[in-house]
Amino acid sequence: MDVEIESILKNVLQRIKPTESEFRYLYSLFDRIKRDLEMCFYTIDKGFNITLQGSLAKNTFIRGRADIDIFVLFRPSEVNSEWIDRIFIPLVLECLQANYRLMIKYASHPYITAYIDNIEINIVPAYNVDSPSNIISAVDRTPFHTMYIVSKLSNALKDEVRILKHFLATWNLYGAEINIRGFSGYLTELLILAYGTFLNLLRESQQWKAYKTCVDIEKQYRDENECIKVFKNDVLVVVDPIDPRRNAAAAVSLKTFSIFKLLAQLFLRNPSYKFFDREQEPSIDENSLSKYVKERIESINSCLIGIEFEVIKPIPDIVWGQLNRVERIVKNTLKSHEIKHIYIDTWIDGEFKKAIVMVEILNCSTSYELKKGPPSYITDEAINFIVKNIDAFIGPWIDKDGRLYCIKRRKFKPSEIIVLAIRDLTLSSLKFIRCIESVDALPLYNEEFRRWLKQYLDRKMFSDIIALFRQSD
Ligand code: UTP
Ligand code: MN
Repeated sequence: MDVEIESILKNVLQRIKPTESEFRYLYSLFDRIKRDLEMCFYTIDKGFNITLQGSLAKNTFIRGRADIDIFVLFRPSEVNSEWIDRIFIPLVLECLQANYRLMIKYASHPYITAYIDNIEINIVPAYNVDSPSNIISAVDRTPFHTMYIVSKLSNALKDEVRILKHFLATWNLYGAEINIRGFSGYLTELLILAYGTFLNLLRESQQWKAYKTCVDIEKQYRDENECIKVFKNDVLVVVDPIDPRRNAAAAVSLKTFSIFKLLAQLFLRNPSYKFFDREQEPSIDENSLSKYVKERIESINSCLIGIEFEVIKPIPDIVWGQLNRVERIVKNTLKSHEIKHIYIDTWIDGEFKKAIVMVEILNCSTSYELKKGPPSYITDEAINFIVKNIDAFIGPWIDKDGRLYCIKRRKFKPSEIIVLAIRDLTLSSLKFIRCIESVDALPLYNEEFRRWLKQYLDRKMFSDIIALFRQSD
């Protein structure tokens, strides 16, 4: 193997491999909370099993970044989801609140996060089923995942998983959550199992084709074609070894897939520590950012519009799903008004109370728009277009391509178009507050937001990747 790559990966591993004392400390926390939970459940007359899952159980976590995933398993014959919501969750909250900072969270079911120092401890209720084909809720697969990975991963492979996780996290590709749409912890483990090493994965990934690649570790499908047919809408398929109907890579989007392949290629060509260590955006104060935004708007003649929402129900998957919908609708509506050069992205505050969909529109100050009409030889449509645009500012005219065109004064400002498009949407988890057009009305007082906005304006993720290109020649 290339000496340079080898020494980079060795060094990276040294930085991210948990120490023996961290490992022991995390296990002591698990024991402590397990005892507390057993006390809490003293009165429950149902069977339960408090188990350790996730990357601590699999020993694939990264130094300083572990969470502790505790699954409380119940028998499906004894409890149902109503019991979990109405009895179990309140019981845990009530019982642990004196000694822990707690939060209630929602995945497919509600679960609880407790904090010790800043370590997240997830307490997830799930069903103890005898086979993955009998699962009731999605989290019931987890104990099977843990068993599978523990039985298959050698120590050397665990380290390869850590390097991969860190590489992905550096570029914001780690996590299956809907706002990242990247690689989950379990997926990184499967990829290392499939390809043996981080480096080999990078190499082999260059053969991946979107919608045409199936990684089938346990050979559960006859061939790649059969597998691809089953998961035809998924960008990348990694068949779940414990459940052939499930694609462990289902969350991976075309964007994360593409960025991963590109980064892999760049690293192979020109390996460096930069791939594992991205400088954090320095913080910027309110005045400087406000000035920066104003200069930017002027220099590229853009408008910046913030669509502000209040989050009503803080369920991440649903909130992000609805925000993605808003982004799509805004983009399409603006397009239908001939406003085409748009960059959209969304920020949510740390407490999950406020969301801002930022829209940047290029060349937007003009109050006129060019309208493209039908080919003029389609007479009916042509006449329609002419009648409709008879009072246009310029035209209508027939251009050399045979189509009709005209230039019209805009009826609505972009912000008005946006308001009309989203005012009447039914969004169960979001409440539309207003469109912010002036920079200084944005929440610049919030440091997280400032950092985010600066990155949004600079398209930071991509500029960092582009910088790697510069270094490679
Ligand atoms: P984590 O996201 O914590 O993954 O989910 P991990 O493997 O521990 O990796 P780290 O923490 O990033 O190092 C823990 C387990 O919970 C299940 C997954 O199967 C995972 O193995 N899980 C997590 C779900 O089933 N659903 C979820 O929404 C989240
Ligand atoms: Mn975890």
